[in-house]
Amino acid sequence: MKTIIEPFRIKVVEPIRLTTRSERLEFLRKADYNMFKLRAEDVLLDLLTDSGTSAMSSLQWSGIMRGDESYAGSPSFYRFERAVQEIFGFSQVIPTHQGRAAERILFSTLCRPGHVVPSNTHFDTTRANIEAAGAEAVDLPVPEGLVPAVPHPFKGNMDVERLQDLIARVGADSIPLCMLTVTNNTGGGQPVSMANIRAVSGVCRAHGIPLFVDACRFAENAYFIKLREEGYARKSVREIVREMFSYADGCTMSAKKDGLANIGGFLAMNDAALAQKERELLILTEGFPTYGGLAGRDLEAIAIGLEEVLEENYLEYRLASVRYLGQHISAGGVPIVQPPGGHAVYIDAAAFLPQVPPLQLPGQSLVCELYVEGGIRGVEVGTAMFGRRDPETGQETPAAMELVRLALPRRVYTQSHVDYMVEAILQVWERREGIGGFRFTYQAPTLRHFTAAYEPLYPVGG
Ligand code: F0G
Repeated sequence: MKTIIEPFRIKVVEPIRLTTRSERLEFLRKADYNMFKLRAEDVLLDLLTDSGTSAMSSLQWSGIMRGDESYAGSPSFYRFERAVQEIFGFSQVIPTHQGRAAERILFSTLCRPGHVVPSNTHFDTTRANIEAAGAEAVDLPVPEGLVPAVPHPFKGNMDVERLQDLIARVGADSIPLCMLTVTNNTGGGQPVSMANIRAVSGVCRAHGIPLFVDACRFAENAYFIKLREEGYARKSVREIVREMFSYADGCTMSAKKDGLANIGGFLAMNDAALAQKERELLILTEGFPTYGGLAGRDLEAIAIGLEEVLEENYLEYRLASVRYLGQHISAGGVPIVQPPGGHAVYIDAAAFLPQVPPLQLPGQSLVCELYVEGGIRGVEVGTAMFGRRDPETGQETPAAMELVRLALPRRVYTQSHVDYMVEAILQVWERREGIGGFRFTYQAPTLRHFTAAYEPLYPVGG
């Protein structure tokens, strides 16, 4: 059969509310044109994030019932620990309430002022946590990763030569760890190849630098390796995952993505002495080491989700639905990061709206137009999110790319939802020439996109 179907049937439904265009314009104005300030019930198709938005399976819901809420030594923790140990191959498993808590604990244990932490591309919370520990976060993507229109099978790769140059320049002693984000979310949800993981690991090991993987979308990355990298077509996703992590010393994980859970995360590694220090910090702010800020029921849902996400018919459907959205809007002329990523399609807003300069936030214009047109909520991943403002001069530096991310929640939307998305996006594409820019009316000094207020410089909605 050539039709790839959703490999599940629907047991519980959640109604979504249709709104009119003029209602949406009003909601947008009230939210200061910031997608993070919209009420979710005013959104029809929510593509803001694939994080914590997965639909859980009947097995996961039964795990919720089985969850044991003992303060210490809960059987739910041991099931969770075993799942993580078996899948990733690390002996030390520390549960956290989500990915950024694992990041904070890892970086505050290892990083000091003057340190440098390289990555293919750090996610925004990862960068912020490294900077909060006083260290510098450095992105070293391969050059292909920064050119949206040029397809490449592994655009998420790290530039190994630049990693070597960095080590030569600052010295291995200044690099307490190296990170590798799979898939590379900020760079377009693009995978990292096994060859690249192996090469990065080789360089790190030669210099005694621990390698930690930001594992949020590890299963999607592994399936891309199976589909695209020579020698992996006949390996199981589980085997590919084991090999990926065999080159690393540990990982941080947000179970809100490929854990198929609504909350949770973990930190895992082999170094028992390091894990001991981290558990002390965990107790201080997250909780006792056998729950780490989660309920026993959450640990059950994650343990089951980590197994389900490795099912190959699930991964085939998952990547096919993202590819379907990407290919259909691209066939209509919409410029996207090619090829589509694992969890999201990234529209190149700079190419979509060439008349809007980066400092007038073309991605912000596009997310507003998609909401007005179809009630679709995407997220700007451009200058609003990653631009830098000099606190003294007020001078703005734009981001490397102006993207809009349309992230598909896992197991949530059907093909007709995706067809509707395609239609709405193409309608905005048709009237692109009438779209202008935005400016900030409020911005916080860090992670400004979450709380910013904006003002349009043109009539939104055409
Ligand atoms: N690393 C990556 C690559 C991520 O995408 C995220 C979260 C995190 C770390 C942090 O995990 O949210 O559980 O604390 N990304 C979400 C997103 C928020 O929308 O892409 P968290």
